[in-house]
Amino acid sequence: MRTCVRYFLLLSLAIAVVQCQRRRPTKPTPPQRKPHIQKPEPKEPTDFPPVIFGPPSIFPDCPKECFCPPDFPTAIHCENRNLRKIPVIPARTQHLYLQNNFIDEVTEDSFKNASELRWLNLDNNRIKKVERSVLEKLSSLLFLYLGKNNLQEVPGFLPPNLEQLRLCKNQISKIPSGVFNKLEHLSMLDLNHNKLTDGDVGKNIFKGLKNLVQLNLAHNSLKKMPTNVPLNINQLFLDRNNIEDIPSDYFKSLSKLAFLRLNNNLLTDKGVPKNIFNISSLLDLHLAHNKLHNVPIFSHKLEHLYINHNSIAKINGTEICPFPVMAIDWDKEDEQPHLRFLRMDGNAISPPIPLDLIMCFRNLKSIVI
Ligand SMILES: *[C@@H]1O[C@H](CO)[C@@H](O)[C@H](O)[C@H]1NC(C)=O
Ligand SMILES: *[C@@H]1O[C@H](CO)[C@@H](O)[C@H](O)[C@H]1NC(C)=O
Ligand SMILES: *[C@@H]1O[C@H](CO)[C@@H](O)[C@H](O)[C@H]1NC(C)=O
Repeated sequence: MRTCVRYFLLLSLAIAVVQCQRRRPTKPTPPQRKPHIQKPEPKEPTDFPPVIFGPPSIFPDCPKECFCPPDFPTAIHCENRNLRKIPVIPARTQHLYLQNNFIDEVTEDSFKNASELRWLNLDNNRIKKVERSVLEKLSSLLFLYLGKNNLQEVPGFLPPNLEQLRLCKNQISKIPSGVFNKLEHLSMLDLNHNKLTDGDVGKNIFKGLKNLVQLNLAHNSLKKMPTNVPLNINQLFLDRNNIEDIPSDYFKSLSKLAFLRLNNNLLTDKGVPKNIFNISSLLDLHLAHNKLHNVPIFSHKLEHLYINHNSIAKINGTEICPFPVMAIDWDKEDEQPHLRFLRMDGNAISPPIPLDLIMCFRNLKSIVI
């Protein structure tokens, strides 16, 4: 999933620098060019490497630190340039790439005229705070990526049209109340790898997110399931928390939930009501690295099940089969178990695979025991 973008820098000696970055979501991106190399700025007494300048541009307003693709005038590329400050962004900019720099402030000056900005990538910088005055002006913003920074709370006054908000890998331990209330168009909220506790995700914090599809709260310090998860949620990721139990009616109203990840928690049989994962919309269920002794019941629609690294000593295919084995109609798609992948290594189960399991789950393509 990683693409490597290579930049070759020719200083007095030839030095090749290889930068790896995550693949950007699908959007037209202009062809990358080798940056034109100017002399580094006079040395400052810091540890920061010198700023890498962009090539000469046909646009007079192109910031000198950036690359402004001639055939894609709405995009400005300033990523991987050792920037510590955001340059003044031209008014025509819609797609702005500032990831992988050393930026620690997002100031109003830089964005004064950038009211058309739709896509702002500030991943992997050192940002502690985003001023209200900046976000308020960016009313067209759809994508805001602030992953891997030093934020301690979710920025307030988020633009109301936002569709994707990435805040993973920060130090966030506070969600100001009402901060997500007006974000009706938000489909992806990534708070993975922060310092959130139950108090932060309790009450009605997610309630206004009517169109949220993906909620990622993995790698935080939750002991309970978050409350009032938006009803349209399709993907809920809660891996690497300290969740011990799930309320019995938790998934009742989440009729679109298809991907549920609870790996690396503290779930026990007692904390997991018998029928809790028998959810007819569910396709993918991750329960690895918990404390389960039994395989939970699941619906015949489930395709992938991860129950590896628990304390399961035996698996009874008859008991977990969604239908009585003899009643399964193998000609009818909807009357047979769909399970295709089952991982159950790291338990106390030893081969061979029980015959009743094979009889029921004939659609299994892969099984790890
Ligand atoms: C912003 O736009 C105004 C009005 O179009 C213009 O006068 C000003 O120079 C611009 N500022 C910057 C920093 O581009
Ligand atoms: C799972 O749910 C289905 C449909 O809601 C129900 O018919 C079935 O009995 C449940 N399975 C178990 C083992 O309770
Ligand atoms: C599996 O469960 C069924 C139904 O509860 C039971 O009849 C059967 O003996 C069990 N099989 C094994 C191998 O324990």
